[in-house]
Amino acid sequence: MRQEHIAEIVNIERAVFADPWVGTAFERELTNSFSRCFTALDQEGRVVGYLVYWAVKPEFHILNIAVRPDMKRRGIGRLFMNRVLSDALKDEADFLALEVRPSNTAARSLYARYGFVTIGYKKGYYTDGEQAEVMIKHIRK
Ligand SMILES: CC(C)(COP(=O)(O)OP(=O)(O)OC[C@H]1O[C@@H](n2cnc3c(N)ncnc32)[C@H](O)[C@@H]1OP(=O)(O)O)[C@@H](O)C(=O)NCCC(=O)NCCS
Repeated sequence: MRQEHIAEIVNIERAVFADPWVGTAFERELTNSFSRCFTALDQEGRVVGYLVYWAVKPEFHILNIAVRPDMKRRGIGRLFMNRVLSDALKDEADFLALEVRPSNTAARSLYARYGFVTIGYKKGYYTDGEQAEVMIKHIRK
């Protein structure tokens, strides 16, 4: 992810999330030493998706993953999950973790497909009061 991608990323954020990150949130992650940020681009260099995770061993924590609405269901989400998983294996993390809305069927299906399991809930986590489902995946070494 580069600074010049952020305007497009923020447009996608607004299209897909009820509580979108603002540009400065991405800028902060780009300068954060334990944050890893990626964008997927199409052939014209337009942003089609992005991933932000924290490498805070023993945990790798997925903070944000999204795909542009017109590019969904083409394997881009899988591409990002493969990336964080292979990084976690390479860097010998013990587990991956994330929060997801219980109502987010698409994301929960993607995570379940990667072997994430629900370990609990955080009450009132989202700005509209929805709780967060906490999912983790242990890394097999
Ligand atoms: C979740 C998200 C990133 C998935 O990205 P994607 O590129 O569409 O996902 P993929 O094409 O790689 O799909 C991989 C698998 O995830 C599951 N999946 C993805 N979208 C799904 C949907 N709408 N319903 C059910 N399963 C779904 C399927 O198992 C799918 O495999 P298949 O297409 O072979 O059936 C995307 O829907 C998105 O950006 N959602 C809005 C943002 C968001 O909610 N992010 C997660 C916050 S926790």
